[in-house]
Amino acid sequence: MKELELPDVKDVLVEYRQMQLLYRSALKEIGTKLEILNDEFKFVHKYNPIEHIESRLKSEESIMRKLLRKGVDVTVENIQKYIDDIAGVRVICSFTPDIYRIVDMISSQDDIEVLKAKDYMINPKPNGYRSYHLIVKVPIFLSDKVIPTKVEIQIRTVAMDFWASLEHKIYYKYEGNAPEYIRTELKECADMIAFLDSKMLAINEEVRSIRQEDSR
Ligand code: GTP
Ligand code: MG
Repeated sequence: MKELELPDVKDVLVEYRQMQLLYRSALKEIGTKLEILNDEFKFVHKYNPIEHIESRLKSEESIMRKLLRKGVDVTVENIQKYIDDIAGVRVICSFTPDIYRIVDMISSQDDIEVLKAKDYMINPKPNGYRSYHLIVKVPIFLSDKVIPTKVEIQIRTVAMDFWASLEHKIYYKYEGNAPEYIRTELKECADMIAFLDSKMLAINEEVRSIRQEDSR
């Protein structure tokens, strides 16, 4: 039985590598869309809503692990059906209203289909995690067909990103079972970051309104 499973997974990996071309293209499409929006916004409003953009393809190992966790067979169909974040883009903004600007601008594009939206800004996770997640489909034009391809977009502030990377490291180190006091401290940090973000936003708006008055 075991001997049969291995060649199967190998076949799936060969097919998956062909699929990677599609997901890599989807990352480029979304990356370009975001850059265009940022450039236009900068031109009109004189500032960048986007601090920076990161993108990645999910590793084969994490794809396999996720399928096992979900208890489904390792097939190319299941990869496409059950894994929303093969192509992942992270958009880091300076201020929280920038997050909603990006969400609105991306969601309203004609060729983008929003499959899921999760607002962990309004509804933070119990551990304190705050971000906005979108799962979208973007059409990829190949030589003989068009394939709508899924991309996960995570949008958060610089400060929230700092928190999320530390939390992620700790989560892995303790395999999801970090000691209670560490979880409490992380939650405190998350709350401080939410406070910091709102305070920095207030300062920024104050300064912008003074500058606007000066230029009148
Ligand atoms: P998966 O967790 O990816 O299976 O999907 P889900 O249905 O739980 O989706 P969700 O939108 O909650 O999370 C998607 C991704 O967001 C994760 O894979 C992480 O990259 C990120 N994320 C979600 N929650 C947390 C969190 O508590 N801490 C950190 N650091 N990242 C998180
Ligand atoms: Mg999750």
